[in-house]
Amino acid sequence: MTNVECLVFNKKTIRDIDVGNKRVLVSVDYNVPGDSLGKVTGKARIEASLPTLRYLLEHNAAICLISHRGRPGGKVARELSLRPVAEVLSHLLKHKVMFVDSCWSEAADKAKQELQPGQIVLLENNRFHPEEEANDEEFARKLAEHMDFFVQDGFGNASSRHISLDAVTHYLPSVAGFLVEKEVSTINEAMENPKRPLMALIGGVKISDKIDILNRFIDSADIVAIGGAMANTFLLAEGIKIGKSLADSEDVIKAREILAKARKRAKEGNFVFYIPQDGVVAKEMDPKSPTRIVDWGTHVIAEIQDYPKRPRLEASLVGEDEKILDIGPFSGAFIAGCMQLAHTVIWNGGMGVTEIPGLQSAAGPFSHGTELVVEAMLGQFGNRPHSIVGGGDTISYIESKGLLDQFDHVSTGGRASMILLSGKTLPGVEALQDK
Ligand code: 3PG
Repeated sequence: MTNVECLVFNKKTIRDIDVGNKRVLVSVDYNVPGDSLGKVTGKARIEASLPTLRYLLEHNAAICLISHRGRPGGKVARELSLRPVAEVLSHLLKHKVMFVDSCWSEAADKAKQELQPGQIVLLENNRFHPEEEANDEEFARKLAEHMDFFVQDGFGNASSRHISLDAVTHYLPSVAGFLVEKEVSTINEAMENPKRPLMALIGGVKISDKIDILNRFIDSADIVAIGGAMANTFLLAEGIKIGKSLADSEDVIKAREILAKARKRAKEGNFVFYIPQDGVVAKEMDPKSPTRIVDWGTHVIAEIQDYPKRPRLEASLVGEDEKILDIGPFSGAFIAGCMQLAHTVIWNGGMGVTEIPGLQSAAGPFSHGTELVVEAMLGQFGNRPHSIVGGGDTISYIESKGLLDQFDHVSTGGRASMILLSGKTLPGVEALQDK
């Protein structure tokens, strides 16, 4: 990705400094999934760090890598060690990667001091020390010791000031790596200068978590479609009965405000704000629980055996003991249809419950809506829009389906991508030197 055209990235990168024979401290986001022993089960974030590391090696730098893994809360947790990551990295890079089992110790100090051009050392999980999340100056000063430059390439970590990766910029000239450059410029470019029509597909649980993103898309997108549990709160705001579905009653007022804003914009023309009009419901979030489709929007779905009689009332009512767990076929088809018109789709958040596996197949009973919109996004029905995916759960879903490389851009950062989508800047990027 070294040739990305950076129209919306104004920070210095490793291209702008002379790294030859220099010691470079590189922050990477190796917060990768693992099993109970810590064995790496998802390599995407390690792969995403390779362009920067290859460039530094080609330019004869000495590389010291720092990262966190998980949230050990300042204590040592063996299953969150980065040692297995060093092995995976070494394999992917086809280059020896040394490992030091602490990032703040005499051993770490010695390893940095003795580091030679062309060598790589990975230090142990920096969150084994409480000072890391406290953005501790002394901890940062020590990390910076014996180093010439700091390179921020841990996009997922760049969303917070509560880590030493911010304070470390006080001690070293600090620039971005290629991953940070690519993530920030791709997301900002899609938000500020998209190929239209721009469609936003927003799911997830709470409206309040995504209020800035929703408002920004209502201002700038051409189509906004809502799914996931968040849609239930919009349905509540519309006076639709949702039974026992997950919803946030405190967010109903916000939902009404968003609906009012979206309708005002729709009246002005050329804008669609879509909340689901049908859903898959079940009494329990369990693959054995029978499901049915409820159409609360247009009252058109009849049970096949009843056709052409008028549909029974239950066909348009969610029962008091039922939960909406996925969007229904009409909503899925509408959203997929909109994607036939879109040039750019930005997706954040599943349409239904995607983490429950099916009894007989890989497709979960409540993930059909999400699968349908993924197929549409990937061009299975004709048009293939430019697709950008952000947000932790969405990314994990795509990774679990083996579809990471099918989208145009899948962000490696959960919270970081959401912050950029909402139009704010990332503290870990702001702290870097301007171009
Ligand atoms: C992530 O997984 O998004 C990053 O590694 C940040 O993790 P954090 O939310 O624990 O800071």
